[in-house]
Formats: sequence, structure tokens, C-alpha cells
Amino acid sequence: MPTRVALVTGGTRGIGAAISVALRDAGYRVAANYGGNDEAARKFHEETGIPVYRFDVSDFAACRDGVARVEAEVGPIDILVNNAGITRDVTLHKMTPEQWRAVIATNLDSLFNVTRQVIEGMRARGFGRIVNISSINGQKGQVGQTNYAAAKAGVLGFTKALALENAGRGITVNAVAPGYIGTEMVRAVPQEVLEKKILPQIPTGRLGEPEEVARCVLFLVAEEAGWITGSTLTVNGGQYMI
Ligand code: CAA
Repeated sequence: MPTRVALVTGGTRGIGAAISVALRDAGYRVAANYGGNDEAARKFHEETGIPVYRFDVSDFAACRDGVARVEAEVGPIDILVNNAGITRDVTLHKMTPEQWRAVIATNLDSLFNVTRQVIEGMRARGFGRIVNISSINGQKGQVGQTNYAAAKAGVLGFTKALALENAGRGITVNAVAPGYIGTEMVRAVPQEVLEKKILPQIPTGRLGEPEEVARCVLFLVAEEAGWITGSTLTVNGGQYMI
């Protein structure tokens, strides 16, 4: 069997970096996309040897060009992990249109922008694994995150519809819904909110590790996982059971 090629969006930092490394360690050929932090991407590349590709997942034309570069240099994409995401946390009564749009564009439009570039190839070859990273807050809602929760709930609908469209073509489409993981994104939450409001709600009593999310992705992209499609794998330390 040929070595499968995987593209991880937002794959040079946080949960995405852990997913890129886990896939590489499992023997996949990995390309890691990133949006703008050249310094972090350079460091990630130096440490892991994984090739990095800068393009904006909120921009359809940029995704078309970026995916074409990946496919020319690494190979046709068999596995897509739509992981790139941002937060602009603020309550709705203070939210600006820019804060709304930025989160919807990067966290939800991106699924169309990137997946659209690879889905025809996957259908033609009769194999594909797509994993979309959602969030506990798309499942249960969260103060200060109407934009983020709407996008992450949208990810779940996208996942199920695309799973149905491609179930007969050897392509699975699943979501992973992480809880609070110890990344820069979560460390940006005000310390007091994190300690007083969030940590007490996590039955395991700690934040998750990026590698604990990466394990879920590895499970879903396996050759043997062909009968798992349209599902959401929840990994949140028991904070929200669905
Ligand atoms: N859980 C429960 N209550 C929370 C909360 C949380 N995570 N965050 C804020 N609140 C509460 C505040 O304590 C406050 O309550 P009181 O009125 O009783 O004091 C109320 O909500 C509103 O707070 P503010 O008036 O201060 O509202 P604000 O407009 O200034 O917004 C905030 C503050 C932006 C919501 C800020 O508190 C914040 O950033 N909270 C954290 C939000 C959060 O959890 N984001 C997740 C980021 S990590 C991530 O997104 C990854 C993932 O997928 C899990």
C-alpha cells in the first residue's frame, strides 16, 4: 500500500502540531499548513522535518494554490485534518462585525475552502479520510463565544452532510470535539476565568494535552476505520458528555 499523504491545517502550533507529529510518527507523509506565524513554522519545521505551507484557510483562492503546491511536492492528499482555528472571545453585546467574521471565516469557511480542493481527488481515487476539529464549545455553548460556538457547531453539520455525500466512495468524514487543552489558545483565557470557572468544571481536574487529541485523529484516519463516518469523537476530560 502506498504511504498516505496527510495535510493538517494550522498544523505547526498547538493541537495541530501534535497531530502533524503523531501522523508523521505513525508513518504518514505529512504537510503542515499555517496562516501567518513564520517564526513558529520555521521552528516547527526545524524540529520535526515536516514541510510547512503558508496559506490563508479563510481565502478560497489561496487554498486552491496552497493545496496545489502540497500535492505537487508531497503527493495527492488522502487525509485532510481541518484543524486551523482562532478565537475572538467577547460577549455578543460588545462583539464587532470584524470579530464575528474573522472567526466564522477561519473556523468554518475554511472547511469549504480547503475540503473543496481535495474532495474530487479523493472521490476519483476511492479513498479519503477527513477529520474536522470542532470543540466542546460548539456542543454546549460558552460565554464570550457566540462566534466560535456557531462556527464549531457548524463544523458538526458540515461533517455529517459531507459524510453522507461520500459514504459510498471510500471516504470517511468525522469530527473530533476537544475540551480545554493546554495550548496558547486556552492560556489566552483570563487566568481568573480559567481557574475559577473552567478548571472546576473538568472532572479529571486538569487541562488536556494536545497529544491526547492527536490520538483521536490517528484512530479516525486509520485504514481500518472505514466504517466510522459522520461521528463526533469527544475528548474533554468528562466536562461535557454527549
Ligand atoms: N465559564 C463560565 N462563566 C464565564 C466564563 C466561562 N468560561 N467566562 C466568563 N464567564 C462569566 C464571567 O465571570 C462573568 O460573570 P459575572 O457577570 O457573574 O461576573 C460573565 O461571564 C460575563 O463576563 P464579563 O462581563 O467580563 O464579559 P466580557 O464581555 O468582558 O467578556 C470574556 C469576558 C471574553 C467572556 C472573558 O471572560 C473570557 O475570555 N472568558 C473565557 C471564554 C472561554 O472560555 N473561551 C474559551 C477559549 S479556549 C477555546 O476556545 C478552545 C476550545 O475549543 C475549548
